[in-house]
Amino acid sequence: MRILVTGAAGFIGSHISETLLARGDEVIGVDNFCDYYDPLIKENNISDFENNKYFRLYRADIDSYPVMNHIFNKEKPQKVIHLAARAGVRASIQEPLLFSQVNNVGTSNLLELSHQHGVENFVFSSSSSVYGNNEKIPFAEEDNVDYPISPYAATKKAGELLCHVYSHLHDLPCTCLRLFTVYGPKGRPDMAPYKFVKAVFEEQKLTKYGDGTMRRDYTFVDDITKGIISALDHEYKFEIINLGNSDPVELNDFIAIVESLVGKKAKIETLPVPPGDVKVTYADINKAKKLLDYQPTTSFDAGMDKFVSWFGSKAV
Ligand SMILES: NC(=O)c1ccc[n+]([C@@H]2O[C@H](COP(=O)([O-])OP(=O)(O)OC[C@H]3O[C@@H](n4cnc5c(N)ncnc54)[C@H](O)[C@@H]3O)[C@@H](O)[C@H]2O)c1
Repeated sequence: MRILVTGAAGFIGSHISETLLARGDEVIGVDNFCDYYDPLIKENNISDFENNKYFRLYRADIDSYPVMNHIFNKEKPQKVIHLAARAGVRASIQEPLLFSQVNNVGTSNLLELSHQHGVENFVFSSSSSVYGNNEKIPFAEEDNVDYPISPYAATKKAGELLCHVYSHLHDLPCTCLRLFTVYGPKGRPDMAPYKFVKAVFEEQKLTKYGDGTMRRDYTFVDDITKGIISALDHEYKFEIINLGNSDPVELNDFIAIVESLVGKKAKIETLPVPPGDVKVTYADINKAKKLLDYQPTTSFDAGMDKFVSWFGSKAV
């Protein structure tokens, strides 16, 4: 299969690309190596497979229709995994227009070109953030998601709506996956697992937002990768499916786990919870189990152990 992976040099995209190449697929990677975090990290992310003869990389902007049109005409992808985006709740509050440009225009371009080129399956990375401050836990796909509380969440909800339009009007099979806080090797440096481990390793101050009772459904990247590839292989007409660990961890417990794995005490600074941050994320994964045979197998302790080992090996 010839699969176009947007955001191929990012955290999740590089795991997906490597897994697809390992099973014999051709991967057409698209990434603009944006500077939301150090682009050198993205160069490292792809270093293990960029010379694979079945991998072709385009350093391109998904929000440029002419550029993406050229790539589709040249490569004729059979399936698309659309991961490229501006990610991050807090960053989206700082730069809402940029988020709208990349996430909304970019996703529209990808869907339109996938329709025109008869793509067999389109997998879109949505986010648990669409649930906003959902009162009911765990979050299920049929819960109301009309009340996002950050520009980022709104772009992800808009992406799901656009996927529905293309599925309905043009029979483009689309699966939207609501990913719940993904962590693991190659993890994003703006996210808590990376920031906390780095701070404790380097004996720097760690910022804890709120009283530490906020909970996140941290999901190990290998489990997410399996879920995304299963969605790629299933070809549903239109589905929205949660991919999480379904076992939320409280911030205070999270910090204690990091302290114990790194073997150092955290220097904690406490600040109020920033606007846009939700109190809890907690995935109901019954639909993923049923439709994708999805079963996360990495507990938070085991996943953080792997993450800390990776971080340590990188630091030396
Ligand atoms: N990591 C998580 O916890 C999480 C949770 C929910 C949803 N998601 C979604 O999953 C996807 C991948 O997330 P990630 O954590 O790997 O983030 P990431 O930032 O590491 O990867 C995104 C990639 O997209 C690229 N990109 C950004 N703008 C682009 C543009 N205009 N054109 C081409 N490429 C562009 C970036 O350079 C980056 O490599 C994103 O859509 C994100 O919103 C991630």
